[in-house]
Amino acid sequence: MSVETPVVAVDGPSGVGKGTLALSLSAHLRWHLLDSGALYRLVALSAMRQRTALDDETTLAGIARTLPVAFSVQPGQGVRIDLAGDDVTRAIREERVGDAASRVAALPAVRANLLERQRDFRTAPGLVADGRDMGTVVFPRAPLKLFLTASAEVRARRRAAQLSVPENSATFEKIYSDIISRDQRDASRTTAPLKPADDAVILDTSELGIDQVLRQAITLIVDRGLQ
Ligand code: C5P
Repeated sequence: MSVETPVVAVDGPSGVGKGTLALSLSAHLRWHLLDSGALYRLVALSAMRQRTALDDETTLAGIARTLPVAFSVQPGQGVRIDLAGDDVTRAIREERVGDAASRVAALPAVRANLLERQRDFRTAPGLVADGRDMGTVVFPRAPLKLFLTASAEVRARRRAAQLSVPENSATFEKIYSDIISRDQRDASRTTAPLKPADDAVILDTSELGIDQVLRQAITLIVDRGLQ
């Protein structure tokens, strides 16, 4: 029997620190990294650029199937993402693209067409996969599934700090309400809704810094004999 390449699934809602944890873990373990949210953002950005309606499931599914994307690790700086040769690393992080991503992510045909593409990231020596359904749908047999949580308020404060937005501003209120509505959309969709896998370890990061979360994750990885 062949031994499956190990996967650590890192799931949770927007702004919970999954991306930071997944990047740090993959660097620490020297494993590959899948930022699945980037794939949904890329579908959304392509659709916006070619003026495809965000509910045109057939066209959007075609975009998902043929997405001309290249990920390249830039040591110490994260991952550079090119779409048809154009560097879109920053463009896909815009709030409007994130919002559009959560709309296209609700379409079953888009999710289906991104499934194999995501599974192809599972190559030796291992994969850290960041998303919403890594442990439930994409890698249901992952030997370690982490589900990160934090209150919407804590997540809004973190996002505001990243964007240098003061907390008593209208922009902060908008960030907060966007987080709530994106959570609702992600948790209530019928295909692959945001929820922890039955065998996931839940980590509440509200009161924890990234180093503490990283240490807990590494302890779990070592305890399970994955490294
Ligand atoms: O994680 P990120 O904010 O980049 O994801 C953007 C959107 O893509 C999310 O709001 C979610 O709707 C969707 N997504 C998803 N499944 C994933 C990753 C992201 O539905 N595995």
